[in-house]
Amino acid sequence: MTEPVLDVKDMRVWYAGPAGPVRAVDGVSFTLRPGEVLGLVGESGCGKSTLGRGLIGLTPRGSAVDGDVRFDGRDLLSMPKRERDRLRGSGMGLIFQEPMTRLDPLMRISAHFDEALKTHEKDLSKDERESRALEALRALGIPPTRFRNYPHEFSGGMRQRIMIALALALRPKFIIADEPTTALDVLVEAQILRILVEIRERFSPAILLITHNLGIVAEACDRVAVMYAGRIVEQGPVRDVFAAPSHPYTKALLSSTISLTTQELHSIAGAPPDLVAPPPGCRFHPRCPSAMQICPRVAPPKFGPHAAECWLLDPSLSDSDAAPLEKQEVSVADEA
Ligand SMILES: Nc1ncnc2c1ncn2[C@@H]1O[C@H](COP(=O)(O)OP(=O)(O)OP(=O)(O)O)[C@@H](O)[C@H]1O
Ligand code: SF4
Ligand SMILES: [Mg+2]
Repeated sequence: MTEPVLDVKDMRVWYAGPAGPVRAVDGVSFTLRPGEVLGLVGESGCGKSTLGRGLIGLTPRGSAVDGDVRFDGRDLLSMPKRERDRLRGSGMGLIFQEPMTRLDPLMRISAHFDEALKTHEKDLSKDERESRALEALRALGIPPTRFRNYPHEFSGGMRQRIMIALALALRPKFIIADEPTTALDVLVEAQILRILVEIRERFSPAILLITHNLGIVAEACDRVAVMYAGRIVEQGPVRDVFAAPSHPYTKALLSSTISLTTQELHSIAGAPPDLVAPPPGCRFHPRCPSAMQICPRVAPPKFGPHAAECWLLDPSLSDSDAAPLEKQEVSVADEA
């Protein structure tokens, strides 16, 4: 088996907050192999973007990142900042939620590409830089005739595609695409799928795709990781996880989409927990329809082929631990 491009073990990202640290990513492990697309899903606020930003060292001041994160075998978290910044340009790319954050309104699109390629690929000639740029733009459906236009001459969706092309022109081994679906409604599902297919065929980077759209995950991802309250509670091949989800949260997430027209994940009963003081034991227990006596007491380890963090998968639970948790007990446990 090929070595992973990205190997993440027990990663944590905490933000400083007035009521104590916000544990936005709290012990997450996964790998990503060359050319593989991993979908990261979960409700708003569960820590998906924080995880993405933590991986490439873009978390804000006052935050702490911990764990073992290896990119191409190299330890990312302990490497000097300058080295990591260099890697971020060439080896890893990030496609932001907000498309205008990195396009300078005063610079032509051609200049954006030229500058990025000059910085990170010093050996390329001017012609080579231009052909790299045009290749990437063409892959994203931007005609070469628009190469010397300014950002404001494009629609929001086109600017977003230009951002993706900018990242791709550097031929990164690893890309984080954070919510390309919801950032702008102009990018419809079919378009995203076409772009993803194009990217995979032409450049085959490993992609971490952060999205609310389970349809896109089903179509475009090899594996899926389901995040809840700062942890990945289940992960595995998309087909397996979607056909036979192990974790009650994954089940809720999947069934919540059936009636959806907005593609937002809002129909799971209850609200996501406060990440300053998450519920004890299994963090999903206050919302879980299958919660048992053990759930608020002890955090579940990973079980089964999907590494699902759920006691239901433990065949050796005692009868008392496996007894259902009454609603009242849930709220008492919450207040504890
Ligand atoms: N700079 C920050 N300082 C303090 N807390 C933050 C900061 N950024 C995010 N958080 C908190 O961290 C948690 C995770 O946020 P994050 O943006 O990673 O979620 P997300 O899963 O990407 O959500 P969405 O789907 O809405 O994009 C949230 O509780 C959020 O309020
Ligand atoms: S560990 Fe318990 S509360 Fe958590 S998901 Fe499984 S059954 Fe539900
Ligand atoms: Mg986000």
